[in-house]
Amino acid sequence: MVLHITGRSASQLSTIEALLFCPKGGFMSQTVIAVIVGSLRKDSYNRKLADALTRLAPPEFTFKHIEIGDLPLYNQDDDANQAPTVQRLKDAIRSADGLLFVTPEYNRSIPGVLKNAIDHASRPPGQSVWGGKPAGILGISIGQIGTALAQQHLRNVLAFLDVPTIGQPEMFLQVNENFFDADGNIGQGSKAFFQGWMDRYVAWVKQHIAG
Ligand code: FNR
Repeated sequence: MVLHITGRSASQLSTIEALLFCPKGGFMSQTVIAVIVGSLRKDSYNRKLADALTRLAPPEFTFKHIEIGDLPLYNQDDDANQAPTVQRLKDAIRSADGLLFVTPEYNRSIPGVLKNAIDHASRPPGQSVWGGKPAGILGISIGQIGTALAQQHLRNVLAFLDVPTIGQPEMFLQVNENFFDADGNIGQGSKAFFQGWMDRYVAWVKQHIAG
């Protein structure tokens, strides 16, 4: 794929869309989604879920994984001089059209690393990059409530940051041995259900961008 910058300023392209060359001719308008996984674990089920889910999206959607493991601990003293990793995080969120949070539940809430990233990109006052970005939320755990409380806490935080979150269908997932197939894709038993979620998410994001 070749990135073309034609007719618009680079800043407009980075905030609205990328134009990617389409092999069949013409250009395909790309909707860019920032994917934020709340686990740093190497074999994270949530990262695996994010990867499998994004493979169900249509070709006009591009998903960019956002690194949050190298961010410093948030310290308000640094607001006027944010670290390069924080600036990188903010640039990535700023240039995305939408957000996808895939997070485990830690002690009935969201992991500290995720809250740390959200706090960083919300500062300094008046310079939050979150506002108005439509977000999908889901998560998988080994526990029976399937991240329900973590997701609800995340919705509270995002509501304050003016991030609209898709409400239905809710996705509270408990991992089991058939959840992923040998290639890391969603297993056949659940694939239609996840395709339905992705189709609804795609339509909802498009609606927000158009509105
Ligand atoms: C957990 N786990 C967990 N699970 C759950 O359903 N509700 C919870 O409140 C918690 N709390 C919790 C706290 C901490 C500190 C850890 C490390 C784990 C278990 C969790 O679901 C499991 O470790 C998942 O595998 C974590 O997701 P990833 O890392 O596989 O994406």
